[in-house]
Amino acid sequence: MVGKQDTEPEENMSDIESFKQEQRVFDPPADFVANAAISGMDAYRAMCAEAEEDYEGFWARLAQQNIQWTKPFTKRLDASNAPFYKWFEDGELNVATNCLDRHLTNGNADKTALIFESDDAKVSSVTYRELYERVCKFANGLKSLGVQKGDRVVIYMPMSIEGISAMLACARIGATHSVVFGGFSAKSLQERIIDAGAVAVLTADYQVRGGRQLPLKAIVDEALDMGGCDTIRKVIVYQRTGADVNFNKDRDLWLHDLVDGQKAECEPVPVGAEHPLFILYTSGSTGKPKGVQHSSGGYLLWSMLTMKWSFDIKPEDIYWCTADIGWITGHTYVTYGPLACGATQIVFEGVPTYPNAGRFWDMVQRHKISIFYTAPTAIRSLIKASEADPKTHPREYDLSSLRLLGSVGEPINPEAWMWYYKNVGGERCPIADTFWQTETGGHVITPLPGATPMVPGSCTLPLPGIAAAVVDDAGHDLPNGKGGLLVIKKPWPSMIRNIWNDPERFTKSYFPQELGGTTYLAGDGAIRNEETGYFTITGRIDDVLNISGHRLGTAEIESALVANPIVAEAAVVGKPDDTTGESICAFVVLKRTRPEGDDAKAIAKELREWVAKEISPIARPREIRFGDNLPKTRSGKIMRRLLRVIAKDEEITQDISTLENPAILEQLKQAQ
Ligand code: WTA
Repeated sequence: MVGKQDTEPEENMSDIESFKQEQRVFDPPADFVANAAISGMDAYRAMCAEAEEDYEGFWARLAQQNIQWTKPFTKRLDASNAPFYKWFEDGELNVATNCLDRHLTNGNADKTALIFESDDAKVSSVTYRELYERVCKFANGLKSLGVQKGDRVVIYMPMSIEGISAMLACARIGATHSVVFGGFSAKSLQERIIDAGAVAVLTADYQVRGGRQLPLKAIVDEALDMGGCDTIRKVIVYQRTGADVNFNKDRDLWLHDLVDGQKAECEPVPVGAEHPLFILYTSGSTGKPKGVQHSSGGYLLWSMLTMKWSFDIKPEDIYWCTADIGWITGHTYVTYGPLACGATQIVFEGVPTYPNAGRFWDMVQRHKISIFYTAPTAIRSLIKASEADPKTHPREYDLSSLRLLGSVGEPINPEAWMWYYKNVGGERCPIADTFWQTETGGHVITPLPGATPMVPGSCTLPLPGIAAAVVDDAGHDLPNGKGGLLVIKKPWPSMIRNIWNDPERFTKSYFPQELGGTTYLAGDGAIRNEETGYFTITGRIDDVLNISGHRLGTAEIESALVANPIVAEAAVVGKPDDTTGESICAFVVLKRTRPEGDDAKAIAKELREWVAKEISPIARPREIRFGDNLPKTRSGKIMRRLLRVIAKDEEITQDISTLENPAILEQLKQAQ
């Protein structure tokens, strides 16, 4: 069987019911439709029909039109070694030249590429020509250190022009980058460096967010001191604040010293279309995070197409995606997609609530942003904040520059959708509720803003060519109105190519034999509306949690907990949360007797900090409950479905006949 083995189907029903009953339909505004690249549903259907008729030809045409190839491809899709699919394999390109050099000759050279706003609201910007020069210098600097095509480079940098330049500098010389989110701990960073076999780490002295400084360089030092990172030759440090850092003269180098005197031109290294542009680690349901490997050609194509299709990007747009470059959204919709399309975009260092919860709206007003793309968690927390402090409500700001809104990372509940639509979009901006994953490379199911009628809480219909379906455990199609597994039946250009160092896990996780071995299993549940066929995502079917739009595996958190010498056993479940989507609840058995009262509080605090240090503050359990044991079946399997009910403080109504130790339930219910 595929997915969570012990999930009670009733658990998600209340959400599904509320989505099912969602009747409101919002047509895209007429003037938006009139000016959109894909205008009206007939245009969408025509594209779907074209993809249906000649699938490979459809993508090949788009790849020829959108990408500048240094060597044109003759092969389209190679499925001979499925599910290790290859696209445009004999073509050659350089992704950085597609994002920069092309704009030097197409009239965009003096156009603003990036507008950077720091945490304390200082604004600076670069044109396409300036960004090109910075990236070339950076790339020459990396070359001077001996970094070559195929080497892996870890980027542990804050949101900054330098962070984006670092990614592009790697792409320019054919090095494969692996960006690690600046919130990850030394331990998480060390694991990723080792798994990727990286030759260099690009970092900053500090990261500044919400008025606080986070010592990135010190965390890199700590990661490297943990040992095992023998492949690392150099650490390059961007000076963000100038505050003190330790410097190891043999290993560390300031970025400004590295680029100083480098030429502002750097011959790009052409790579094959399948060359890994990057590896990005993400959580799975078991074991350690997996290094999702993406291609160069197919990935770049998707980042461009979806900017055009889902965001209807136009030359005059001021575009802002609030994601960090440490996540896939920051890869596709901050670095590669917008730059390849020649957009002008905002790069924001800070957080939505600093100096107050009106920050986003203030920025929209000041920068006259026209396309705004953020996560439901941010929206929900800003709704709450604006109730507490009405001065931060969007109505206090001039948001008339907005023409399109986007949502990403988790299901957006209809109430949050409505608030976003009314208060931020002034009922005139379509909302692109974009469903996708690290593995899909870019949007796969989303309304097209100039075509698709929107229903709050539904990501609506697949993009042209995306063969999304809802199936049962055996891979049989389910009728509309019946919930099941979300799959994509045909390969598409930007799909995950492999898990770095672990092809077996790749096939097992995403192309299970139960579904035939070549159908992509998303790991989410979905249901289609009976009349419209619209998709609603009902949440993960595996043990992956979504906390504020961040993916975390329960297994990862459990193994961090048991790595603490006082912990004997741990089980982690998600608990629904109005703001963060889910919160983490851990059930823990200590090696010593079960703590109670203040003792329990103190140990819970210690363990919460431990997990934050082992993985990241985003993985810190909200709640820890102690027991003498955990509920288990006779064969010793932890019954997480019961823990999920206990975490919600609900009565257990499910069958507990297979439970070995029923008395434990009472104890865990009491334990707080
Ligand atoms: C969830 C983020 C509902 C889903 C781009 C998926 C969504 C996981 C949506 C991937 C959406 C993302 N509606 N759920 N519009 N977008 N998800 O890899 O559970 O960080 O599997 O990629 O987020 O998270 P990831």
